Order: sequence, then C-alpha cells, then structure tokens
Amino acid sequence: MAAQILVASNRGPVSYVPRDDGTLDARRGGGGLVSGLSAIGPDAGALWVCSALSEGDREAVRRGVSEPGVKMLDIDAAVHGDAYNGIANSVLWFVHHMLYQTPLEPVFDAEFRRQWTAYRLYNRAFAQALAEEAADGAAVVVQDYHLTLVPGMLRELRPDLRIGHFSHTPWAPSQYFRMLPDEIAEELLLGMLGADRLGFLTRRWMSAFMECCGTSLGVMGSWPKDSSPHIDHLSQVTGQARRTLLGVHGLGADAEFLRERAHRADVDERMAALREQIGDRKTIVRVDRTELSKNIVRGLLAYRALLAEHPEWRGEVVHLAFAYPSRQDLSVYRDYTAEVARLTDEINAEYGRDGWTPVVLHVEDDFARSLAAYRLADVALVNPIRDGMNLVAKEVPVVSDAGCALVLSREAGAHEELGEHAITVNPYDVSGTAAALHEALSMDPTERAERSKHLASAATALPPERWFLDQLTALREL
Ligand code: F6P
Repeated sequence: MAAQILVASNRGPVSYVPRDDGTLDARRGGGGLVSGLSAIGPDAGALWVCSALSEGDREAVRRGVSEPGVKMLDIDAAVHGDAYNGIANSVLWFVHHMLYQTPLEPVFDAEFRRQWTAYRLYNRAFAQALAEEAADGAAVVVQDYHLTLVPGMLRELRPDLRIGHFSHTPWAPSQYFRMLPDEIAEELLLGMLGADRLGFLTRRWMSAFMECCGTSLGVMGSWPKDSSPHIDHLSQVTGQARRTLLGVHGLGADAEFLRERAHRADVDERMAALREQIGDRKTIVRVDRTELSKNIVRGLLAYRALLAEHPEWRGEVVHLAFAYPSRQDLSVYRDYTAEVARLTDEINAEYGRDGWTPVVLHVEDDFARSLAAYRLADVALVNPIRDGMNLVAKEVPVVSDAGCALVLSREAGAHEELGEHAITVNPYDVSGTAAALHEALSMDPTERAERSKHLASAATALPPERWFLDQLTALREL
C-alpha cells in the first residue's frame, strides 16, 4: 500500500545484529523522531525510509527481513561510505559546526568531488525509493544534512508530493558556508529549496540558511511580521517561480517518558553504584556522544582549572563524564576520544587521592546510567562549540532529583530557550567555564531548585509528538 506520510533519514529506527546461530536480532532505537512518529499511530500509513548501515542491516535487506513501517535501503557500501563518512560527516558536519582548522583544511580537490558524486547517488537512491512508495499527494519529511539533495530530486520525480526537510544541526554562517566550492554550495541550497517547507531547530539557524541563500544564490528571503518566513526562487525543475516556506520547531524533552524511565529499577541500581563512588560530594555531570563539537576536552580543562583555582573544591566534587562512542570510522574522532581519556587520567593523577577520583569517565553507552547521573546532578555541564539543540541540556533539569544548575554554552541551540535560567558560557573560554562551574556549585539550593523548575518547563514546551505533528500539519496546510 502506498504511504501517506513518509520520513527519510540516514539512520533508521531499527538496526540488525547477527546472533551466533545466524539469525538477526532487531534492535529498536529511540530519539525525537521515533516518539514523534508514535503520535500518528500505526494505522496512519507512515513509512520510514532509511539506509542499511551495518553488515547486519544489509543482510536483513537481502533476506527480506523488515519491521512494519520501515524500508531499509541497501545502498552500495562504498557509495554509502563516501557519502556518509566522506561528505556528510567530514564536510557538511564540519561546515555547520565550524570545526575546521582552517590553515590546513578543508581541501576541496578531485577526491572531494569524487565523494560528492557518491553523495549525489546516495541522495538519488532515497529520492527514488520515496517516489516509489509515496501515495498521491503524500507528505514527506526528509531529515538532516545527509539528505540535502533529496527534496530537489524528489520534486523532479513526484511534483505532487508535499516535501519538507528538517535540519537537526546548526546552519553555518554564510561566510563559513562559502568555503564550499561555489557550484557545490549552490547545488546543496537548491536541493534544499526543492522542499515546500524547511524546518530548523532555532531562529538563528533558520536565518543563517536564509543568509546563505542570499550570498550563494542571490535569492533573498522575506520574514514578514504576520506570516511565515519564505524564500522565492526559480524552480530548478520547471523554471517557474516557487516559494519555499521556513519554520522553527524547537524539539523539546519528552518529560513523561523520561520521568517514568528514570524511576525504574535498573536506574536505581546504577544510582546506588554511582553514589558509592561519589559519596556525599557534589557532582558535575556531562553526557555526550563523543563528537568533536561537544567540546569535552575544554570541559575537562575547565574542571582542572576549577580545582587549581578553587582548592576548596578538591575532594568535595566529582565530575561524572559520560562520553559515548560516535563515528569511530573517522580517525579524527578516534584521536579525540583518546584525548578525552588521556586528559581524564592526567587530572586524576594530578589531583586524585585515596578515596577521591576527581573525574569518573564512562565510555560505554548505558542509557540507564545516564539517567541515574541526571538524577544525581548538582550541576550539568553542556558546553558545545556549536550544537543544533542539545537535548541533554533539556533532559537533566527534567530528571534531576533535587534540581540542578545548568552551565550552558551560548552556542547550543537550547540556549535560545534555556539561557535565561542557565549560567551562560563562551565554549572557548576555559577560565570563564571554570568560573561558571564554581558559581553553579556554590549556588544556594533554593535558587538552584527554582531555576531548575524554570529550565524544566522551558525544556518541555514542545514535546516530540507535537514537534512532529506541527511539522506535518504545516506541510498539509500548504
Ligand atoms: O544530533 C544531530 C544529528 O544530526 C541527528 O539528527 C542525527 O541522528 C545524528 O546527528 C547523526 O549521527 P550519526 O552519524 O551517529 O547517525
């Protein structure tokens, strides 16, 4: 049956892991999109198109194993590797998070252009699958920087569809975006403008996108007071004037799910184990995937500066740093992960003493332990260089037992909504972050609880179900 609502993303809601007996174990993931889609119910005719990412996934596609409502694409592994690791993670992620060390990188040479061809092929595979599966006039919501060319390609194949695209990352400022070769920048923006509507996590990322369209394409966006921001441009497909609308949907934390999940027995067990390590000391908690953009190394440097400049905290505080593996195919991620471990050891060797380990680092992903740390947190440290939103900043205040103080980077999307009740830091300023940690640790418990209450309420303003439904409604109302 043709689908009425389609979601497309590189990583899907399920992955397959081969068991010893040769059968495949299907593992379901979480996240905003999964909970968002659950709001429309199983009978809504929704289909999630995603890519096979592992050998287990590819085997599942070959064997015809699938989950209801999910279509996994077995895109050639070499093409996927070039598109995902080569372009999406090593170029587009770096551009939007401003991660390049510019004296030496980026280098846009023949190898880059070869990988860009793979990125096109991979986007085309998605566009074709969506075109085949979509019912007449169906709504399609394409996700993220992996699939920026899909809206344009899909419009060419199926002009009847309502096409949306949502960016979960920041959008680069136009001066930074212009590092991309001109023809690539144009192709990318025109691909996005193939959509009827583009969604962003904050106004800041949305206006950056509009600015890029101005600088790279010469098409100016309008942001009228009483209607939606939009960009008028010439359709690549028909040569006719077209309008792409833009909107902001600040994904919030799922309070109901988090509060229930955080009080199950496995979380209690992990809390007891952590409590044993921490004793009655204060805790600074951070939980991240080990992304270059998360700024874990400067966070550790700031903690070291806190211990150096405020000896009164020595032996009185423990930094729980959970840094879970991410994108380990890329050497720069592996090196960064190693640096986090090295610096942790250095701080523990410098300041640790019998009965007190200053930094407790965990690198194996364990959701129940993350929730346990959220509950225990006196201070949450969220200091990314740049981040689309950062849901950890929203989740900790919702879950923490006694209320926590939030030290928050002004470059995280979440800062737009939470800044007023957080302690704001410039993520590059290690001394400033150390001072913010001191302020957060010293905060009077009543003020802390009060601020945490405000943070939790701002953090849950747009739960995942509504976040998703709002986008769908906006697309259908076009
Ligand atoms: O967190 C931003 C984000 O773009 C998510 O939307 C997306 O799921 C993820 O990053 C991609 O990460 P990965 O490379 O592990 O799939």
